[in-house]
Amino acid sequence: MDFRLNEDQEAIRRLAHSFAEKEIRPYAADWDEAEKFPREELAPKLVEVGLWALAVPEEHGGMDLDAVTSCLVTEEIAWGCGGIATSVGGNSLGSYPILIAGTFEQRDRFLRPLVEQGNMAAFALTEPNAGSDVSSMSTTARREGDEYVINGAKCFITNGGLADIYSVFATTDRGTGSKGISAIVVEKGTPGLKIGKKEKKMGIRASNTTEVIFEDVRVPVENLLGQEGDGFKLAMKTLDISRPSVAAQAVGVARAAYETALNYAKERVQFGKPIATFQAIQFMLADMAMGIETARLLVLKAATLKDQKLPYTTESAMCKAYATDMAMKVTTDAVQILGGYGYSREYPVEKWMRDAKIMQIYEGTNQIQRLVIANQILR
Ligand code: CAA
Repeated sequence: MDFRLNEDQEAIRRLAHSFAEKEIRPYAADWDEAEKFPREELAPKLVEVGLWALAVPEEHGGMDLDAVTSCLVTEEIAWGCGGIATSVGGNSLGSYPILIAGTFEQRDRFLRPLVEQGNMAAFALTEPNAGSDVSSMSTTARREGDEYVINGAKCFITNGGLADIYSVFATTDRGTGSKGISAIVVEKGTPGLKIGKKEKKMGIRASNTTEVIFEDVRVPVENLLGQEGDGFKLAMKTLDISRPSVAAQAVGVARAAYETALNYAKERVQFGKPIATFQAIQFMLADMAMGIETARLLVLKAATLKDQKLPYTTESAMCKAYATDMAMKVTTDAVQILGGYGYSREYPVEKWMRDAKIMQIYEGTNQIQRLVIANQILR
């Protein structure tokens, strides 16, 4: 076992860090305030450095990053801003179903424009009454000749309204639960595809989250991914791949908060000494450093298993739950160390605390992750 990154991984990690430092971190507070994904300002720059559509393989114009490198990049982008990492992560999440189940033609048609034109993708799974319980979804896709007709509504869709392609999950066989769900790609501009309410969120406000509504949306059968009925397992496989990235986001946000708290503790003088000399603060900083290190190791383990084509469902759920719980604690403690300044919007730590919260919720709540882990270990 070698804990060192190889030269390519280290070079891409450094590139992502310097990009986040120059192009993301300085503007993160303004984007958070504006509650808008800065597509025009940021996307072309991310496309130029190749960090826009991390999941796209080389044969379709992408960087072909392995899972480890993709998580390293995600950690750095999230260090810059959790909302931006969510939007970039949304491109990958929307791409994975196409990558896993799409034909070569489907992959080339839908994914190449992400890399070459800065197009965006979204993953449309969640519904108002089907969050954790995916198989209870009520969006339908009815086959009529050479088309599917989609009706229903999805909610909390990252990149909603911005995406050029939506990987949509709908039931093609009502009453059969998870076995009747299918995945279909819907392109922006298709008649009947409507963008509903934009969420006003606590954190990750530099990302767009909207409802997506389907009113008699007709798409050609060529847009079906895999076979009818493959959709539930495809969604689960997609989430297996993407949960380590959510964990990497959490490590990035926690690291940002920890570094700021560490520097502050060394400079802030109370009772005649820097507060870093007090054991109460030292123990908090030590716990933060320990949590970040262990979470990153779990992320890299899950990503390595994926890269080695070994089973990783358990490790994926473990790193997602562990890292995001850790990030919530670390960012909350960072606010505590900065005290009143930590609570003020003049300092960035309150934003990181707000950004961390969603990571315990999206891509499967941490209660669902524990269910997945328990199911695996009790089998
Ligand atoms: N890989 C492959 N197959 C899998 C699988 C996996 N990881 N997990 C389950 N399956 C298979 C099972 O083996 C089973 O197959 P058979 O029917 O052939 O036996 C089938 O799928 C059904 O599995 P379960 O009975 O376990 O399914 P369930 O209905 O009990 O649900 C669940 C399990 C873990 C709760 C699942 O519904 C789940 O993960 N829920 C959370 C959903 C989620 O993460 N949503 C996030 C949305 S995306 C988002 O948040 C991003 C954003 O943009 C905001």
